[in-house]
Amino acid sequence: MGIRYVEGKKIFHMDTEHTTYLIGLSPEGYVGHIYYGRKLGSEGNNYLLRMEEAPYTPSVREREKASFMDFFPMECPAGGIGDYRESCLDVRGGSGSIGCELLFKEYRITKGKPVLPGLPASFGTEDEAETLELVCEDRLLGIEVILAYSVFWKCDMITRNIRVDNRGEEHLKLEKVYSACLDMDNRDFEMVTLVGSWARERHIQRGALRFGRQMVSSVKGESSHQEHPFLALVTPETTQETGEVYAMNFVYSGNFMAQAELTQFRQVRMTMGIHPDHFCWNLRPGESFQAPEAVLTYSAEGLGLMTRNFHDFYREHLIRSPYKYRKRPVLINNWEATYFDFDSEKLLAIAREAKKAGIEMLVMDDGWFGKRNLDDCSLGDWTVNEEKITSGLPDLVEKVNEIGLQFGIWFEPEMISPDSDLYRAHPDWAIRIAGRTPSQSRAQYVLDLSRKEVVDYAYGCVADILHSAPIAYVKWDMNRQLCDIGSACLDRESQGELMHRYVLGVYEMQERLVTEFPELLLENCSGGGARFDPGMLYYSPQIWCSDDVDAMERLRIQEGTALIYPLSTMGAHVGDCPNHIVGRNTPFDTRAHVAMAGTFGYELDITKIAEEERAKIPAQVEEYHRYQPLMQRGDYYRLASWSDRKPYDCWEVAAKDSSEALVTFVQVLAEPNMHSRAVFLRGLQEDAEYALEGTEEVYGGDELMRCGYLVPSEPGDFVSRLYHFVRVGQV
Ligand code: DGJ
Repeated sequence: MGIRYVEGKKIFHMDTEHTTYLIGLSPEGYVGHIYYGRKLGSEGNNYLLRMEEAPYTPSVREREKASFMDFFPMECPAGGIGDYRESCLDVRGGSGSIGCELLFKEYRITKGKPVLPGLPASFGTEDEAETLELVCEDRLLGIEVILAYSVFWKCDMITRNIRVDNRGEEHLKLEKVYSACLDMDNRDFEMVTLVGSWARERHIQRGALRFGRQMVSSVKGESSHQEHPFLALVTPETTQETGEVYAMNFVYSGNFMAQAELTQFRQVRMTMGIHPDHFCWNLRPGESFQAPEAVLTYSAEGLGLMTRNFHDFYREHLIRSPYKYRKRPVLINNWEATYFDFDSEKLLAIAREAKKAGIEMLVMDDGWFGKRNLDDCSLGDWTVNEEKITSGLPDLVEKVNEIGLQFGIWFEPEMISPDSDLYRAHPDWAIRIAGRTPSQSRAQYVLDLSRKEVVDYAYGCVADILHSAPIAYVKWDMNRQLCDIGSACLDRESQGELMHRYVLGVYEMQERLVTEFPELLLENCSGGGARFDPGMLYYSPQIWCSDDVDAMERLRIQEGTALIYPLSTMGAHVGDCPNHIVGRNTPFDTRAHVAMAGTFGYELDITKIAEEERAKIPAQVEEYHRYQPLMQRGDYYRLASWSDRKPYDCWEVAAKDSSEALVTFVQVLAEPNMHSRAVFLRGLQEDAEYALEGTEEVYGGDELMRCGYLVPSEPGDFVSRLYHFVRVGQV
């Protein structure tokens, strides 16, 4: 299908439907990057490796090796022997020195996509994907390094990962193992990243690439609110529809590094992997280390196509949940309604009112267990607080079910409060450095999930509760980052493994959860959206986007999130006003229209909101369900962007067969003395006619895409409209 070895030229040629990736071997066996980009009809040649130019290759012209090493475009640059650019693999050998030289040994091409044991990873059948493994070796160190590439033909995606096998006699230490590297000539690239903070996650940032190294990264033990494991290099003219884009995303939920380096020779090295800080992995004889997967895509048609490639890929090849394309229940969550101040009666009152409004699930958030009435205790004591849930959890669930709602529950299984029975019994279960008082954050510590007994305990608590009652949904939260990185169980040599082992522990718990409860709807969350990454999507089909549900703030957060992730994955709710974080008032309709771009639900006390707002909910729920199949499967187009200094925001989802399209338009600020605005639809059938639902208007597909649809100007800030166009016939 997509991969072949061109023996005479020593070139590995990988194709997807619209892209080509070429790897070439130097005479000595250095594995070089030749090309990635728009599809090539030809076999390709290796002149882009520039082996005929000074400084030549070491064996052919006997030039000094160091200058060669610092120039050759490497597929997996190893540190310590003359390549001064960012390395992807730093190995400390038995002698104590760092230095590794990888030379090609052999290759394998197989159909399909292998799993990565213990790690989230994309999947594909033998018809959908093909895999190339390049086996490289360093004989002195006694290691084999397997560079794995899987091509997904239809989505124009290539995944990469690296495995290091110690086949020698010495105890080695891996001090850095990245998962992907892309060396290219610079084309005045600009860098697109996602950055932010709590309550303003994943805002899009774009800027020129300068000499030196520029990165986004996390050493917080999770992918983080602040920086995101995503990096795109774009040519300067890049818009939604034009320009070239090279993008990487990391299927991992812990510390990461995503870096672009512009070198002295105006080459660009783009790398992605586990952050080397606080990382040191022991690799004893016979052991292997598997690095997580990085996902690469190339678009010759701007950021929009990149987005749609990622959406298709994650929907088809990463998210496993049966809910992927299933109707998701519209839920009401009591967090912003009550915070910790609730009991069974309050929850039942919310449930009754919610049922009348057509809502389908009640989620009981933080505060139902131990003696937790504030965020300062009880994490780890996962027994129901019967002072609040007076007749016990099974009875509450039964009553909610009788009202006609499903029941969902909140957990924070990775944490331990200093004020908890668990901590009093097992203080050594918290991550901490021996002899040092660890820093608290939100009055809590993090459980040491590198320990099997801790994973078993924490998972067992969740499973016991789920076995006790028919619970349909779990919100899995994580409300602090990691620090004081020490484990009471790891020896001195192994403390550098803790951050990664922690993430593996989280993955193990979530794998057990989705295996034991296959029908459970799992939503990941981390103090809002600090762990919204492809790693978590492997376990949960939806992730809470942000604690900020203000409709205007959400425009930016959801635009950035949807740059990579499908709308069906974005946890989005209608909150109350004034908004609890920014104090802003926005119309109830606008809040709903913005939340409909995600999984949709309510985050308010339905018993207390204004009657006219409550009265709108049934129609909103109905509307969401009507459009949900389109939103779950359709193609997403960003038509205008408030974050790009427009006074309005606009996005569209078009059916893959172009039969319908839904446009959401939000006028953020009214402009005085302004006419209607033209928005140019995408993804329609040029020679078809489209009726605008609720009106007598009919337009040609070409007309809507080339002349645009005129959104009437109206007074008022924060107002929004949905426009549903349905194909009614041929022109
Ligand atoms: C952070 C989450 O994002 C909120 O929705 C809520 O669940 C709180 N944690 C509860 O502590």
